[in-house]
Amino acid sequence: MNVLVTGGAGFLGSHLVDRLVERGNDVVVLDDLSRGEESHVSKSAKLIHGDVRVLEDWELAIKSNPPDIIHHLAAINGTNRFHNEADLVVDVNVNGTINAINIAKRTGARMVFYSSPEAFGEQHNMPLSNSSNSVFSPPFKHQRHSYGVSKYLGEILCQFAVRNGSDVRIVRPCNVYGPRLKGGINGQVVSKMLESDPIMVHGDGLQTRCMTWVGDVIDGMLRVGDYDLPPGSTFNLGSTEEISMLDLAKIISKKRSIEIEFCEPYHGDSKRRLPDVENNNLIGWLAETSLHVGINQLL
Ligand SMILES: NC(=O)c1ccc[n+]([C@@H]2O[C@H](COP(=O)([O-])OP(=O)(O)OC[C@H]3O[C@@H](n4cnc5c(N)ncnc54)[C@H](O)[C@@H]3O)[C@@H](O)[C@H]2O)c1
Repeated sequence: MNVLVTGGAGFLGSHLVDRLVERGNDVVVLDDLSRGEESHVSKSAKLIHGDVRVLEDWELAIKSNPPDIIHHLAAINGTNRFHNEADLVVDVNVNGTINAINIAKRTGARMVFYSSPEAFGEQHNMPLSNSSNSVFSPPFKHQRHSYGVSKYLGEILCQFAVRNGSDVRIVRPCNVYGPRLKGGINGQVVSKMLESDPIMVHGDGLQTRCMTWVGDVIDGMLRVGDYDLPPGSTFNLGSTEEISMLDLAKIISKKRSIEIEFCEPYHGDSKRRLPDVENNNLIGWLAETSLHVGINQLL
């Protein structure tokens, strides 16, 4: 089976590529390496250094191996960037997805689109299910929701393609953590807490998330790509073990013996994010790794 993974040099993409290669698939990666690392891409996969906004780069990626499945992960990610680089976020995430859908249609490939719980914006009613409404604050206040809206539009584009006969599935990974997760200024929470000294907690730290171990999520992603499913099926691949960012910081600060400090809240940060996982019955998937086990494994 030929599999094309966009964003395959990134955190989730590179782990997915490892598993696909391991089971004998022919894998092509399309990544511009703006955030991903070439060294994280399995030597058994073919890396095309290209931009998902550029059709010529897609042509290079499909030329020798027309894909049976496209996992479309390439996107601008990292919470700080959503407000600071809102124009780029919309450009890459929306135009890249338009190209992915068109290429999947042309090659007859099945496509898995990677959305996000941020597609629900500031929806307060939990859990976040496939029937939840999206709630976004007025754009003049801040532009953090460039990302959530780009994922919402991505889902609109996918469901439109499904209505016109394409086989597209949607995954919303939920706060995934594990090896290779980016830290630094534009990084994600667990890696930032593992790297920084002191640990910085945004706002009061009472906002909760469901942290999900990467190995579990990759299992789910493979199933979404492989199984016979109704086109348009959408899955929240997340744990239901909620933890506040302050409690997460306390666990990690104790293990690292360092202090916690509070800093500015992120614009438009949601207070809670609890996924509804009922639809995961279709793929027989539930997150199995507890946060306690996952953090210890990572350390
Ligand atoms: N990690 C999570 O917890 C999480 C949660 C929700 C949604 N997602 C989604 O899952 C996908 C993968 O996330 P991740 O955590 O691996 O992010 P990541 O930033 O590690 O990976 C994204 C990859 O896309 C590449 N990329 C960026 N712009 C590109 C472009 N124009 N052309 C080609 N490649 C480009 C980057 O170099 C990077 O390798 C993304 O779509 C993200 O929005 C991830």
